[in-house]
Amino acid sequence: MDSSGINHYIDAAQRSAKWHDEYKKEMKKCRFDTIAVHGIYSMQEALDFNQGSIIEPIYMSSSQAYRDSDEMEAALSYQIPTWCYSRIGNPSMYYLEGVLSMLETYGSEIEASCCATSSGMAAIFSALDPFLNIDPKRPESPMNFVANCQVYGGTHQQFASRKDKEKNIEWRKVVKSHDVDEWEKLIDENTRFLYGEMPSNPSQTFFDLEKVAAVAHKYGLPLIIDNTVGTPALIRPLTWGADIVIQSVTKTLSSSGFGVSGAVIARKNLDLKIDNPMLKADFGLYLKALPNRDNGPNISPMNAILALNDIRTLRSKVDLMSRSTMKIAKHLQNHKHIEQVDYLGLESHPLHELASKYMLLVDSEHDDLYNKKVNRYGHLMSLRIKGSVQDTRDVFDAFQRIWRATDLGRIKTVATIPSISTHQQQGEEARKMADIPTTLIRLCVGGEHPDDIIADLEQALAVIDGKKVVRTSPEYSAGGASSATLRR
Ligand SMILES: Cc1ncc(COP(=O)(O)O)c(C=O)c1O
Repeated sequence: MDSSGINHYIDAAQRSAKWHDEYKKEMKKCRFDTIAVHGIYSMQEALDFNQGSIIEPIYMSSSQAYRDSDEMEAALSYQIPTWCYSRIGNPSMYYLEGVLSMLETYGSEIEASCCATSSGMAAIFSALDPFLNIDPKRPESPMNFVANCQVYGGTHQQFASRKDKEKNIEWRKVVKSHDVDEWEKLIDENTRFLYGEMPSNPSQTFFDLEKVAAVAHKYGLPLIIDNTVGTPALIRPLTWGADIVIQSVTKTLSSSGFGVSGAVIARKNLDLKIDNPMLKADFGLYLKALPNRDNGPNISPMNAILALNDIRTLRSKVDLMSRSTMKIAKHLQNHKHIEQVDYLGLESHPLHELASKYMLLVDSEHDDLYNKKVNRYGHLMSLRIKGSVQDTRDVFDAFQRIWRATDLGRIKTVATIPSISTHQQQGEEARKMADIPTTLIRLCVGGEHPDDIIADLEQALAVIDGKKVVRTSPEYSAGGASSATLRR
């Protein structure tokens, strides 16, 4: 063994990688909650490198120093683990990426890697962009992608404006996303990927993941899933055949609401027709090492640790939020002022049976409370007011406990009217296609006692019976952005 120069560092890195791999293998044997709590940060690592700190440290440093030029060369040629510069990587990010890879593949032998990003939108952009390169063999050929039309408003804008309109990359919209044939019919030789958001925000559309993955793979295409609403506590798309998962880590994963962040988690050794061996071997690493290094959309160390801290209790929070949402949805189902309640957990929802195949509380069969597999349907529901647009706004304006905000997955219950907020910019026609009427209020149930949320909803709905809406006089802080163009 040559232990001189650069090889001295490479040998040490190999020994260390072996130790870390063994540790990850041990962690993989643990239950979901244990992985969520500990992730890939070990007591050994704490003692050897981090002064025994029991919580993963925040490395608020722009860059890393090297012992000598050999170590620098080995690091910058990616031959040893390095974080060299926080735009590319950083130990705090690495801890978050490690735990997300393990949680999204929990219960399977799948190996995955993750690239954390500065937002969910950055994650979506990062995951899709490598599949949208010009084909050198057919430089003139047009590109398209197939995705359901019921997506978060920001995703809609990225697809419709940034890709379809500005770059001529056609978005082929799947309207009835549970119809697998519709996905297949839209694919041709110029299709680059299939993309699905499920359950979608706010319409809660759902499709048979396994079947759509089979369609994608028949054509050598990747299936990319936005799993923000489900979270790995309920659905793990990679284990059902998807290739890449997107998370707006901002949402349920970071239920405290301390920051905006995202992640791309992908299975290794992708079996796709694209001619890019490194991308296929390890998509997460590829993103970090090349496109995201050059484009720079990565997460800050502070946000990585804030997210990591919330993820530790993910399963129990999702369980609680889901049970409360079910109670609220059932309560509202026959309310005189409500036209329709959309919640996948209700038997009356047309996609309830399909959702029940996929939406299961992870490890409920190992939980003394349940001792069997139990379905949970998440915290996202919507209600359609029986009345006018003004009635809808009056009910919304009367909420006292429920926060009016364009957010979801929070420990505090939040509500929005998507047609005037998150899904406003996409316009009426696109909202109609995605079934988002102006009378729809999206409710994301938090960790409060559900009876208090029901009481707030009841008093707000009573406004339709003629109770007056009390308005407060606005005061604005100097720090708030006022430009209309800054709306989400
Ligand atoms: C389903 C879904 N995906 C992606 C995003 C975008 O995430 P971010 O706001 O972190 O950029 C959102 C935001 O609301 C979302 O709801």
